[in-house]
Amino acid sequence: MDEPTVQRFWQHHACGDAQVGGLHGRFKGDYEQFFTDYDSFRYGRERHIPACIESLSVAGKQVLEIGLGEGSESERLIRQGACWTGIDLTAESVARVGTRLALRQLPYQELRQASVLDLPFADQSFDVVFSHGVLHHVPDIRRAQQEIRRVLRPGGELVIMVYARWSLNYLVSIGVLRRAALLTAALLAAAPLASAGIRQAGRADGRLAGHLANARKLGLFRYLRLSEFVHYNTDGPANPYALVYDRRRIEQHFPSFEVVRVYKRFMHAPPLPVHRLPGERLLGWHLWVHLAPRPATR
Ligand SMILES: C[S@@+](CC[C@H](N)C(=O)[O-])C[C@H]1O[C@@H](n2cnc3c(N)ncnc32)[C@H](O)[C@@H]1O
Repeated sequence: MDEPTVQRFWQHHACGDAQVGGLHGRFKGDYEQFFTDYDSFRYGRERHIPACIESLSVAGKQVLEIGLGEGSESERLIRQGACWTGIDLTAESVARVGTRLALRQLPYQELRQASVLDLPFADQSFDVVFSHGVLHHVPDIRRAQQEIRRVLRPGGELVIMVYARWSLNYLVSIGVLRRAALLTAALLAAAPLASAGIRQAGRADGRLAGHLANARKLGLFRYLRLSEFVHYNTDGPANPYALVYDRRRIEQHFPSFEVVRVYKRFMHAPPLPVHRLPGERLLGWHLWVHLAPRPATR
């Protein structure tokens, strides 16, 4: 998977945009209203985020945020006193976050379009690097973590959120329910008598149509392999790349760091209505990890 493909996806699917009706759709370009509604939607669902951010010690520190989306956490980090710098792979996210911070008159160091694979900063520039919901979408993760290690000061901290492997969403929803539903839909679509109905359902539900098109392109049984299927079941069927993590995979993929702390949050397993159920610490979808840079070896 190449970076331009990943970039194209996020440029045209700004993070969370469709879930609230779209900045240029329902909100007709009203940025202020969009950010207000987006944040209340986001923190209404992902209720753990404000407390997780508040627990980070960022006041007066040089903080780099990687992968900004709509900038909800960027705003929180700045309000908590971080000397904030942000980068995103897409011009769209950078423009949105720039508008948010200008509208709210929030001070920051730098905001630019760049990739985590080639950070435009000197060695040891930051005390904290924060990246929420991003690094599981970066295929060349070893290079990404090397770059992050390079720009972190000794004694600094990397805090990330990546999707959790040992989660209700991955094990049950994606692993069993969604695969079974797609297999059924694909088999029905192949049956001459039922195909018109399924085609109609596919047209009515863009996601189903996207999955059926992916299955036709890749071949149904290859598409249903969990290692393949997961890419298209975290951020929609057009998303080109996603990976799930547990502590062991973190240790393998982040060799320049030592794992300090790991915890799970957010019960999320669509189509199961589990949002308000307990159990997020055991089977939550969001894996938060705090990492410390290992001393450089010569
Ligand atoms: C799922 S969104 C997460 C955004 C935000 N942190 C949040 O939690 O809502 C992923 C974001 O990471 C950005 N991104 C993806 N790959 C990247 C890379 N290689 N370098 C920098 N940003 C990247 C995308 O453009 C997108 O804005």
